[in-house]
Amino acid sequence: MEPFRYHLFVCTQTKPEGVTSCSASGSKRVLDALNREVQSQGLEDEVQVTTCGCLGLCDDGPIVIVYPDGVWYHRVTPADTREIVSAHLRAGKAVSRLQWSDAGAMKAKALEHREHVRAAQRARDQAGILPEDLDNLIRGYWPSRVMLTALELDLFTAVGDGASAETVAGRLKTSPRATEMLLNALVSLQLLQKNDGVFQNTAASARFFAQSSKDNARGGLLHMANIWRNWSNLTECVRRGTSVKTEKSDREWTQNFIAAMDRIANERARHLLKTLGSDGIHRILDLGGGSGAYSIAFTRAIAGAQAEILDIPEVVPLTEDYVRKAGLSDRITVRAGDMLRDSFGRDRDLIFLNAICHMFSADQNRDLFRRACQALQTNGRLVVQDFILERDKTSPQFAALFALNMLVGTEAGNSYSEPEYAEWLRAAGFGEVTRVRLPGPSDLMVATKL
Ligand SMILES: C[S@@+](CC[C@H](N)C(=O)[O-])C[C@H]1O[C@@H](n2cnc3c(N)ncnc32)[C@H](O)[C@@H]1O
Ligand code: FES
Repeated sequence: MEPFRYHLFVCTQTKPEGVTSCSASGSKRVLDALNREVQSQGLEDEVQVTTCGCLGLCDDGPIVIVYPDGVWYHRVTPADTREIVSAHLRAGKAVSRLQWSDAGAMKAKALEHREHVRAAQRARDQAGILPEDLDNLIRGYWPSRVMLTALELDLFTAVGDGASAETVAGRLKTSPRATEMLLNALVSLQLLQKNDGVFQNTAASARFFAQSSKDNARGGLLHMANIWRNWSNLTECVRRGTSVKTEKSDREWTQNFIAAMDRIANERARHLLKTLGSDGIHRILDLGGGSGAYSIAFTRAIAGAQAEILDIPEVVPLTEDYVRKAGLSDRITVRAGDMLRDSFGRDRDLIFLNAICHMFSADQNRDLFRRACQALQTNGRLVVQDFILERDKTSPQFAALFALNMLVGTEAGNSYSEPEYAEWLRAAGFGEVTRVRLPGPSDLMVATKL
């Protein structure tokens, strides 16, 4: 069976630095160029391009295989991709100068490579050397920290349309020596490019991290730099069983936090709208609504719907600003308060707890659900959106790690499992409780008051 006329495999295997591999020979650039050519030559619906792991022919990479023809190309460069697409995929004639036709020699090379890899693994194992994946895991924070520092300094804006290390250091008022080290590391992470000593943003860096771009996400991403400080206390938090926060939530911290939430919420709101529909939704209560992204999306989509957002006093001016900019101040009211104490009103059709329950303890959530149920009218729904763990709490990985994010950042927060949510919701008085799986890391618990 062959669902597509052609299926191309591009080896994108990475190997430790200094070891020959397709990815070190530029196979990711070949992959991008192939995808662009397939699209621009109008073959997108007939040709599938996917990646594959090591084929044992690393010295001759990048390797590209074309099925069902069984043609193996070697040493492919981005410049070759136009010919591969036009001559082979369009006209059916393989590009002979790139083709590898000696199957016997290829097999011998692949087997020799396999034996070499196995021998190296055995030697490493016998010497008791830490496996590479564990070694990489331990150093995993290096690239992240480089990126966070670049964001904190607003380095991508300082690089602008291209600048030397000295110019960037001048703009940032940082040490020229250290700035050059940081810039070089960013090039190694493919977040910048360097030509003749001039550093340049990549397309993605210019788009998402530079001030002049409309898609600049730096404000929201700085939240990750802020919570880094909490994470550095993890060991002590595990000893004590609660957060030992050192960093204060000042105005800038709050702004970054709400911007980060807004970035995520804008993307998630459409899934929620699709799942919940608009029937019977007139009076919405958005608990801890943050930027108001969900209330904004729902009141925009449902004629006549009104929403109230309850959030803490420090956040309310920011919420009001987002609502005003959306032109919805007449349909969304914003109340300063504490959801753990203040009234939820009555006769609500829909109550949101989006990214809220993980901040609180099990008992606090039980109480929130009980009071939410009282504030809903019959057939009204409470929607909890969160990172929901499976029963044994070890997966999904994101939710299991997020539990620690709450340990280091809150007094009693956690990630909770579906059975926990279901039990609390039923105990609160909800008649129907369903889990709705959504694309991405968070899911919904939808509870209806019957
Ligand atoms: C993780 S954010 C989620 C924001 C929003 N629901 C969303 O999904 O984008 C948590 C929100 O709850 C608010 N919050 C925290 N504790 C609160 C409390 N006791 N009462 C009201 N709001 C609270 C925070 O200020 C923040 O806006
Ligand atoms: S890394 Fe591509 S063939 Fe080995």
